[in-house]
Amino acid sequence: MKVGIVGSGGREHALCAILRKSSKISEIFCFPGNAGTSTIAQNIDLDANNFEDLKNFVLKQKIDLMIIGPEKPLVDGIVDYFEKYKIKVFGPSKIAAQLEGSKIFTKKICQKYKIPTAKFGIFQNKIDSKKYLEGCNYPAVIKADNLASGKGVYICNNQKESDTAINEIFDGKFGEAKNILIEEFLEGEEMSFFIISDGKTFKCFSTAQDHKRVFEGDKGKNTGGMGAYSPSRLISEELEEKILKKIIKPTILGLSELNSNYRGFLYAGLMIVDNDPYLIEYNVRMGDPECQTILPRLKSDLVKIINSCCDETLDKTSIEWEDKKSLCVVLCAKGYPDSFQKGTEIPNLSNILPDTGDYLFHAGTKKKDNKIVVNGGRVLNFVSVSNDFKTAREKVHKIIEKVNWTDGFYRKDIGYKVIN
Ligand code: AMP
Ligand code: GLY
Repeated sequence: MKVGIVGSGGREHALCAILRKSSKISEIFCFPGNAGTSTIAQNIDLDANNFEDLKNFVLKQKIDLMIIGPEKPLVDGIVDYFEKYKIKVFGPSKIAAQLEGSKIFTKKICQKYKIPTAKFGIFQNKIDSKKYLEGCNYPAVIKADNLASGKGVYICNNQKESDTAINEIFDGKFGEAKNILIEEFLEGEEMSFFIISDGKTFKCFSTAQDHKRVFEGDKGKNTGGMGAYSPSRLISEELEEKILKKIIKPTILGLSELNSNYRGFLYAGLMIVDNDPYLIEYNVRMGDPECQTILPRLKSDLVKIINSCCDETLDKTSIEWEDKKSLCVVLCAKGYPDSFQKGTEIPNLSNILPDTGDYLFHAGTKKKDNKIVVNGGRVLNFVSVSNDFKTAREKVHKIIEKVNWTDGFYRKDIGYKVIN
């Protein structure tokens, strides 16, 4: 069968590489993909936000299944659009994608179904927001309601910082703001928890721990993710049961009462406080870099799993995992998450031949005159699957040293909570 993947990051290269292992796949198209996907699939230079051009290509090429990687096209309704043209597509509908598209939508579901989450208030203007904070303890968490590419969250330690956050959000830094969300700060350990759903049944799709801050020791600015490991050290049968009962099942119920059955990957960003889960946010897709560290542990055929979600037969499909530890380190362009240089060459990549259990997934790369050049801040993902996290990290570091890219940097402490 022919499969199309929308997106251009490390997540999409990982999806592409793991799908490639399936004997059912004849051809993969990436819209637009990166230098990594171009070696195992056909990159199509179409804008992922131009649904009409995508649809025309998909129909012309008779692509059997479309998989949507990033949140923006999902929140903008690409699934509803493709379905109008009878294109088989894996991902949630526009209504369900509001779980990521509007933090306030999610908070209202939490309120209605008593899902544990940080206490919060919703405000419509600067004056009311600032007044509310007068009686609150710091740190306070202030969030823009809409999609903000991971940048609309402020952890404020004092009034000066909260004033800045409120002003920036209402002044339109993340688009027009009718509302703002102010939350209590939860202290605990974060975990990324995934399920996959066909709209009738869902199954767990493993866990991971992301490292969002740019510098070692979890210091510096938030990024899209500097590395991850899977599974999370926190997960246990008891905790999984709590997460499903208190968070996932009531959310799925809430969506079904809005006449929207959830189909796709669902990523719950959780804070675990004293072995109890609190929902921080939902994402309506796989995480990046969580996807890169989770998928290499999958033993079952990914295309079979995704197809069964589109055909509502997930209940008959088994999902098996390697009982191993996987760790991913992201190599970034110097300057990220602020400004960095695009177009510089990444040398030595042709010398990198990963061993079995090692993976190199491209993210912000593209091919130019037969060279691989930087096209985004998070550039390459190095993953190793091993019997323990320490060995996995050592293998990853050895490969990165071979690349020896002087314009790049990476966190050397990914997985520090699971490695002495
Ligand atoms: P979000 O985009 O909602 O995932 O927020 C980005 C990051 O901010 C999260 O990964 C957490 O590290 C942090 N964060 C968000 N909300 C809270 C909260 N209520 N308490 C503590 N940390 C939070
Ligand atoms: N790794 C965080 C995210 O994908 O949103």
